[in-house]
Amino acid sequence: MEIRYPRAFLLPLTVVFFIFFFIPQFTYASEKEYVRQPPGCIIFTKHGRSESEPQQVHVSLAGSDYMRVTWVTDDHEAPSTVEYGMSPGQYNAVARGENTSYTFFFYSSGKIHHVKIGPLKPGTTYYYRCGSCGPEFSFKTPPSTFPIEFVVVGDLGQTEWTKSTLAHVESKDYDVFLLPGDLSYADFQQPLWDSFGRLVEPTASRRPWMVNEGNHEIEMIPIIYPHGFKAYNARWLMPYEESGSESNLYYSFDVAGGSIHIIMLGSYTEFDSDSAQYKWLKQDLAKIDRKMTPWVIVLLHAPWYNTNTAHQGEGESMRKAMEELLYGARVDIVFAGHVHAYERFTRIYNNKADSCGPVYVTIGDGGNREGLAMSYKNPRSPLSMFREASFGHGRLRVLNHTHVHWSWHRNNETDSLIADEVWLDSLSASSTCMGQQPSSLRDEL
Ligand SMILES: *[C@@H]1O[C@H](CO)[C@@H](O)[C@H](O)[C@H]1NC(C)=O
Ligand SMILES: *[C@@H]1O[C@H](CO)[C@@H](O)[C@H](O)[C@H]1NC(C)=O
Ligand SMILES: *[C@@H]1O[C@H](CO)[C@@H](O)[C@H](O)[C@H]1NC(C)=O
Ligand SMILES: [Fe+2]
Repeated sequence: MEIRYPRAFLLPLTVVFFIFFFIPQFTYASEKEYVRQPPGCIIFTKHGRSESEPQQVHVSLAGSDYMRVTWVTDDHEAPSTVEYGMSPGQYNAVARGENTSYTFFFYSSGKIHHVKIGPLKPGTTYYYRCGSCGPEFSFKTPPSTFPIEFVVVGDLGQTEWTKSTLAHVESKDYDVFLLPGDLSYADFQQPLWDSFGRLVEPTASRRPWMVNEGNHEIEMIPIIYPHGFKAYNARWLMPYEESGSESNLYYSFDVAGGSIHIIMLGSYTEFDSDSAQYKWLKQDLAKIDRKMTPWVIVLLHAPWYNTNTAHQGEGESMRKAMEELLYGARVDIVFAGHVHAYERFTRIYNNKADSCGPVYVTIGDGGNREGLAMSYKNPRSPLSMFREASFGHGRLRVLNHTHVHWSWHRNNETDSLIADEVWLDSLSASSTCMGQQPSSLRDEL
């Protein structure tokens, strides 16, 4: 973790002072070593609806054929119900869900509603309304077969660049949005979580957003909030229970009728071999049958491979703990964020090119408020195939059991222009790689 707090700061007044004045400077100070392109201005998105109307609406996948609808109301009496149907204004189903809220020093959140709806048909548009009031929204469920397209954006933030990234994302259709950590950059200022929810609502209410946590989600204060992730866990509930995980900080889910298995790992929770996360990951990987599931994709925040001078070595202890598991399971691709730039590697295992290892991609260039990570280690490692510090987003088109197309799009160009692209074959189609799979893993299948 990046920030450690001395105990002497724990007198209440000092704490408040600390939060508002010191932490932002701490963060900047540690990152000033890198020369960055100017960050975009922060956009504060105001609440233009009435107290009982839903705001910050977003949807996520919640087990096969289900979606979770999440929203916030200022009114704590507002009901946690979602009405939905396949035609606008005609809701022939209604589901009731749960609610939560949290406090953070003087801040009290609105009522946060989580409602699971379904079973839903694949590849179908549903129209829905939250709490029987406010505007109608709609989303499309992912298809149950190939092809399927993912958008991948890391370190999104809420700046002018964020807006530009989301506009590029919206300019072409896709099925599922993947975010490998660092969402709002609220950094203890809780109203910025609300503002972020409003900014992303037009995109996040239309397609499922599957996210995991970055360092900006931690918001930990020793003794007072020792576990951190208070806002993140309350607001961005992901299908961890549905995937047999005990923590919202790591989970997995299937798409395309189980042909694609996606694993979200937590860079900022324990990952050593005796940790709950490690044990869960091992079990989760052992359950995969690569004949049924040709694609296995992992997302985490702090990259294991990185030739940028920013955040060097921060993913190294996690790599040492978990790389062998991912390699043994023949994971196809590992996406990371954290470094505010784009970089694509070849297939790697243990710091060497390995045709049975995952392709590593860093895509932390969504639009954070700190600017880009401009400086790279030279000479360039032969493992690094493409690297550039520009804001942008990625698209992963899974065409069939054997082929995916990955592309990276810069924000200063139209979405149809591709700055970097590559075709990848599924490792499950390689008899060499599958034949050499470590027996310890195969035995458990
Ligand atoms: C909100 O959640 C609590 C339990 O956490 C429950 O008792 C209450 O009925 C819920 N309220 C609504 C309106 O759903
Ligand atoms: C998978 O898609 C690729 C790219 O379109 C194509 O070349 C290949 O023949 C397809 N394979 C199968 C089995 O359909
Ligand atoms: C966008 O930025 C890249 C990298 O700096 C540059 O090569 C490219 O020409 C730019 N494109 C436009 C349309 O300005
Ligand atoms: Fe980060």
